[in-house]
Amino acid sequence: MPAVVLVGAQWGDEGKGKATDLLGDKVDYVVRYQGGNNAGHTVVIGDQSYALHLLPSGVLSEKVVPIIGNGVVIDPGALIGEIEGLQARGVSCEKLLISANAHLIMPHHKALDRVTERYLGKARIGTTGRGIGPAYGDKIARMGIRVQDLFDPGILQKKVEGALNEKNQVLTKVYNRRGIPQEQVVEEYLAYAERLRPYVADTSLVINKALDQDKVVLLEGAQGTLLDVDHGTYPFVTSSAPTSGGACAGSGVGPTRITKVIGILKAYTTRVGSGPFPTELEDEMGDWLRTTGHEYGVTTGRNRRCGWFDAVIGRYATRVNGVTDFFLTKLDVLSGLETIPVCVGYEIDGVRVDEIPMTQTEFHHATPIYEEFPGWQQDITGATTFEDLPANAQAYVRALEKMVGAPISAIGVGPGRHQTLSLRPLI
Ligand code: IMP
Repeated sequence: MPAVVLVGAQWGDEGKGKATDLLGDKVDYVVRYQGGNNAGHTVVIGDQSYALHLLPSGVLSEKVVPIIGNGVVIDPGALIGEIEGLQARGVSCEKLLISANAHLIMPHHKALDRVTERYLGKARIGTTGRGIGPAYGDKIARMGIRVQDLFDPGILQKKVEGALNEKNQVLTKVYNRRGIPQEQVVEEYLAYAERLRPYVADTSLVINKALDQDKVVLLEGAQGTLLDVDHGTYPFVTSSAPTSGGACAGSGVGPTRITKVIGILKAYTTRVGSGPFPTELEDEMGDWLRTTGHEYGVTTGRNRRCGWFDAVIGRYATRVNGVTDFFLTKLDVLSGLETIPVCVGYEIDGVRVDEIPMTQTEFHHATPIYEEFPGWQQDITGATTFEDLPANAQAYVRALEKMVGAPISAIGVGPGRHQTLSLRPLI
């Protein structure tokens, strides 16, 4: 049976939580394959709203086995806090599995994330301050500390000592901060070990066995395509690979097992943090989109930057992820507009281009070329089929579909579980 990848098609915050939750009934396993508690998924069930950061959205479905894959970086304190928060609301996390190979976010990663951002000043990336970049940096530099190290106190002691011998020099001598006491860190992390032990497993083995047994596995990305460290707007990106290619490395599943790639695409565009954003609206229209779409970060509470739909980015997402289906979210937010501009290409230094330019310098110079689509005045939040949508809303969806080059198979018309129009089965 298939492994299905779910990937953000823009700069994250496209509404992946809703899509995962929608697929919940058809899925047996949901695997997070990258990122950490920099992510924020909101899932609304009935009158309850759940903000998830590190746990896969599948945790809210009783039937699903939620897995944190090896490609994720884990802040154990944050993870335990999230598990306890859900348990206090009656959500059981007992099926949760955590990869023994996932890397840990350590106190020095968080300290360095904050201090390097401050040091960068105007050139800062606008990170979430959760230690994500420094944790992935150490992973690649082969000096990371993994979940499995928690279960060998001697090794943990040695690794913390090795890391802090270097990092404390950097914190104190380069950034003029206080060093982090080794013993305190070891003690804190050994206490986490006890709490996490029941969940830890060889998750690649579990997932592949599940696929052998015809189970449906959803590989859930965090962030989005344009925040990918390889394919995004580098250096204004996160430090992992949210694109579908990252799903294999971050979960231990071979590419031949993936049969579908579902791209989550918002009906307009948002981004948090710094970096180029051609269709950004820095006026009342942008404020209107932010207020109407409730575009405030789930993790940091920051205002999201808002702008019109960018078809160049949509096409790019189709290409680099091999998207087979799109889930278009938040179409209802656009109700009430006279006309809706869509960016169909860019003008860069006097030349029209239809693809993301090769260099970041060109991308910074990109000015959107807009096509105007007639809006609709009706409230669409009660629609249950595509045909229920006003003709102009249908035409908007069809136009987007044509521009991005892959079918739109589901449409979100409100935050609730039932507020989704299905055009064809996603799985
Ligand atoms: P980091 O992932 O905290 O290192 O932040 C790097 C960039 O990715 C910043 O621009 C963040 O705002 C952005 N980012 C990280 N996680 C998310 C997310 O879940 N949604 C949207 N942007 C994110």
